[in-house]
Amino acid sequence: MPKASPFLSLLLLLLLITIYIAHGAAGDAIGGDPWQEPEVAQQPAVVLAGEWQLLHQNTGVSAMHMQLLPGDYVLMFDRTDSGPSNISLDALSPCAAAATTALAAAGGGAVDCTAHSVLLDLRSNALRPYPLATNPWCSSAALLPNGTLLQTGGFSNGDRIARLFSPSTGWVDLPSFLAVRRWYATDILLADGRVLILGGRRQFNFEFFPHDDAPAPQPTLFPFLEETIDMDAEDNLYPFLHLLPDATVFVFANDRAVVFDPYNRAPLRRLPAIPGGVPRNYPSSGSSVLLPLRPDSPSHAEVLVCGGAPRGAYRLALRNGTFAPADRTCGRIAPTDANPVWAMEEMPLPRAMGDMVLLPTGDVLIVNGAAAGTAGWELGREPVTYPVLYKPDMQLGARFEVLAASTIPRMYHSSATLDTLGRVLVGGSNPHVGYALDNVTYPTELSLEAFLPPYFDARLDGVRPRLVAAPAEVGYGEAAAVRFEVPGGAVSGGPEEVRVAAVAPAFATHSFGMNQRVVSLAVGTVAQLAAGLYEAQVAAPPSPSVAPPGYYLWFVLHAGVPSTAAWVRMRPLGAAT
Ligand SMILES: *[C@@H]1O[C@H](CO)[C@@H](O)[C@H](O)[C@H]1NC(C)=O
Ligand SMILES: *[C@@H]1O[C@H](CO)[C@@H](O)[C@H](O)[C@H]1NC(C)=O
Ligand SMILES: *[C@@H]1O[C@H](CO)[C@@H](O)[C@H](O)[C@H]1NC(C)=O
Ligand SMILES: *[C@@H]1O[C@H](CO)[C@@H](O)[C@H](O)[C@H]1NC(C)=O
Repeated sequence: MPKASPFLSLLLLLLLITIYIAHGAAGDAIGGDPWQEPEVAQQPAVVLAGEWQLLHQNTGVSAMHMQLLPGDYVLMFDRTDSGPSNISLDALSPCAAAATTALAAAGGGAVDCTAHSVLLDLRSNALRPYPLATNPWCSSAALLPNGTLLQTGGFSNGDRIARLFSPSTGWVDLPSFLAVRRWYATDILLADGRVLILGGRRQFNFEFFPHDDAPAPQPTLFPFLEETIDMDAEDNLYPFLHLLPDATVFVFANDRAVVFDPYNRAPLRRLPAIPGGVPRNYPSSGSSVLLPLRPDSPSHAEVLVCGGAPRGAYRLALRNGTFAPADRTCGRIAPTDANPVWAMEEMPLPRAMGDMVLLPTGDVLIVNGAAAGTAGWELGREPVTYPVLYKPDMQLGARFEVLAASTIPRMYHSSATLDTLGRVLVGGSNPHVGYALDNVTYPTELSLEAFLPPYFDARLDGVRPRLVAAPAEVGYGEAAAVRFEVPGGAVSGGPEEVRVAAVAPAFATHSFGMNQRVVSLAVGTVAQLAAGLYEAQVAAPPSPSVAPPGYYLWFVLHAGVPSTAAWVRMRPLGAAT
């Protein structure tokens, strides 16, 4: 268990004292009555609350789907059938004049010459539009081990398409790839480098990318999805999938969970239902993460599920205009235990449609969403603009902190992802059928923000490590060296002061980060090479079920503060070096 660093604790204490003094020892940093006894020192949550930055007022596209890609790009895309976006394709494609004239002459409607996907270059902050030929609305995706994004399904002309995306090729459609139509499915990368594509509306089955060699690939039935469907609301779409360290897959839908082996080498295991009966999947839309995997207990995994909307909330919002209060509970379970049980806890704020983002520290940021209503057009109310931090290693009751609020409400069709710098990019939100930029309560959001978690605080600069060298590629269990600088020098106390985390980039949409994963690496010796320059020996993840092959962000942490990351590729088993 990574202990809170003594250095960081001391620093926090000093900050608390500073703030206590700054408030004249009578302060009400939390908003209490001024004549009450000061209790500031018991409220560390306000000390390092994080910070919001606006990266783009207008990216042109509302970020319904978001994926960080190797090379430091962030792909954002929306549906293609919502009418024109706010970024033109004119400069790139011959769409424009000729096609418009031809169609208009033939009495057709307006031709859409806008882009529905954009790529952000994190180094320059520049945006580049990419044409999308078919509709990826409410789709799923996974980064393949070679760094190409596989994206699957969508709506209408896109519902059986698999697409590949890389910045150099743009979108390439694989027409009719999917055995069935998939809308609201979930994709995860498996230990063998294949992608499991599971579910979707009225699809109680799964298939793989790539397919078997069979000429007409058949989906495999998965009755759990039929069992968990609610009449008139579903509440089991975009199931939460997590790859467990024994290569089986945890599946959560509605308020129930199973563990299964997609290759059918082991029987399906049923886990207890999460207490309380609150559905957690679309449109009740809670969120879930696999908590960080640790080198000292490589076969142990824990899953956290937070928020959602009570059963019936969707129908009430849709048919009766009544917006039920969102749920505020989280359930935590270790599906790898012999007899797993849910441990319940409460968030400081209720939330549906939240995004849970794993940070390099191993903490979980919960951001975006609403305190009333559900997912679906026009069905969310009371945006929750305060992110909340969950610290899994703290005592029960001391795990949550409320952080600084954004000024921009983000509810249905918003997204969030960790970037290479350790920031959380936050975008999207469009609860309307088309783009409604003004004169509505919750306008379509084309902006992109970065939330800087508390570890960006300038008061931590003295201990902040700077990563200077990491391997470009490693094999399972191999030893690797990571070099870093600490401006103030003084890496004290040895390895427990230094940690290395490998973070898999997620595909974020509809309140779930598919393939999101943090793997803590075992740190051996930390040697000082020169003044302020250090080299840590680390062990790469032990197996592809702990860390499937492909691209990871490696962050060094010193005294609990992460560096910016280097991209490190986990070489597939058996691949040439
Ligand atoms: C984007 O929105 C702005 C402001 O509403 C408008 O002036 C501009 O023409 C729009 N651009 C495109 C390509 O739709
Ligand atoms: C990555 O893998 C996909 C699927 O096999 C393939 O189509 C694509 O060309 C590969 N990309 C690169 C850059 O090798
Ligand atoms: C349905 O809406 C009516 C009118 O707003 C309200 O009085 C009633 O409580 C709602 N029904 C439920 C079950 O919330
Ligand atoms: C704003 O919305 C209201 C209500 O939907 C509508 O009556 C009004 O015409 C709209 N105003 C503009 C400027 O679009």
